[in-house]
Amino acid sequence: MQETTDTVSPSADPVSTAANPVPPSADPVSTAAQPAPVAGRQRLYRRFGKAERIGHIGLGISFIGLAITGLPLLYSQEPWARWIAHSMGGFEATGFLHRFFALVMIVLFAWHLARVFRRIIVDRDLGMLWGPYSMVPQPRDARDVYQNIRYFLGKGEPPRFERYTYWEKFDYWAVFWGMAIIGGSGLILWFPEFFTRFLPGWTLNLASVIHGLEAVLAVGFIFTIHLFHNNLRAEKFPMDTVMFTGYVTEDELRKERPDEYERLQREGSLKEIEVEPVKPSLLNAGRIYGVAVNLLGVILVGLMLYALLG
Ligand code: HEM
Repeated sequence: MQETTDTVSPSADPVSTAANPVPPSADPVSTAAQPAPVAGRQRLYRRFGKAERIGHIGLGISFIGLAITGLPLLYSQEPWARWIAHSMGGFEATGFLHRFFALVMIVLFAWHLARVFRRIIVDRDLGMLWGPYSMVPQPRDARDVYQNIRYFLGKGEPPRFERYTYWEKFDYWAVFWGMAIIGGSGLILWFPEFFTRFLPGWTLNLASVIHGLEAVLAVGFIFTIHLFHNNLRAEKFPMDTVMFTGYVTEDELRKERPDEYERLQREGSLKEIEVEPVKPSLLNAGRIYGVAVNLLGVILVGLMLYALLG
């Protein structure tokens, strides 16, 4: 992402008026269609609010905490697992830390659900259920998948994405099924006396197997596909900072989500979401966190593969 130290006055914007929309046929990735950056700077547009960014950072920290404390329990026969557990004060302390991070994740998830329900029920914001701001899969997602496959096969143009792509929706819903499976089985392991009041004893064994398998799947997916796709692509390398800053550059919005850009232009709302850049120190903190998480993730996947294959 390109950083700026200043933003451009919206009134100087040569393209963000409804009178001057980008024609629908314009190539989303063509540089010829790009606006000339004014004085070498780009406009920045808000994509995520504070709550979403805090939620994502918290989810990232709790997930990595759960992975670092969970994998040594799963592969406790491995020398590296014993080393990690002993550095955290032993296996018992590792189990305690695991429960602590689990609590953080559960609280964050409950907070997210409460916000979603408040917006739907109290604020009557039905845009949460359908339309560009909704995470609910919609017919255009199916069309985008089809068009994307055609594009990969060299048989057409890339899809003109709106606010959320189909893979972003997939990532979002994966947390829900993950919380149900890994969170549900984790709670059974945490409170076995309570759950065996109404569940047969063998469900404890089943919960242990399911929890371990889903952990391998989650760690494998998040630290390969999710991290590589969001940070290590050529356009984003070494990392996409949008989850820290909350904004994207005008170029990013036009190239990556041309249908959203055009809609915002038509609605005349681009000016409303134009923001100032964050402090460089905050951006650097985000980069350090991101690179550290990427590195830790790659190491954990490597150790997991080593244990699985060994
Ligand atoms: C958020 C809900 C979660 C809860 C309530 C939870 C709870 C637990 C509990 C109570 C244990 C047993 C710990 C012990 O033996 O001392 C455990 C084990 C484990 N957890 Fe979690 N956990 C959660 C999420 C996760 C996540 C997201 C991961 C992976 C990133 C994970 C990976 C593991 C692994 C690998 C084990 C070892 C399983 C085994 O020994 O067979 N957990 N978890």
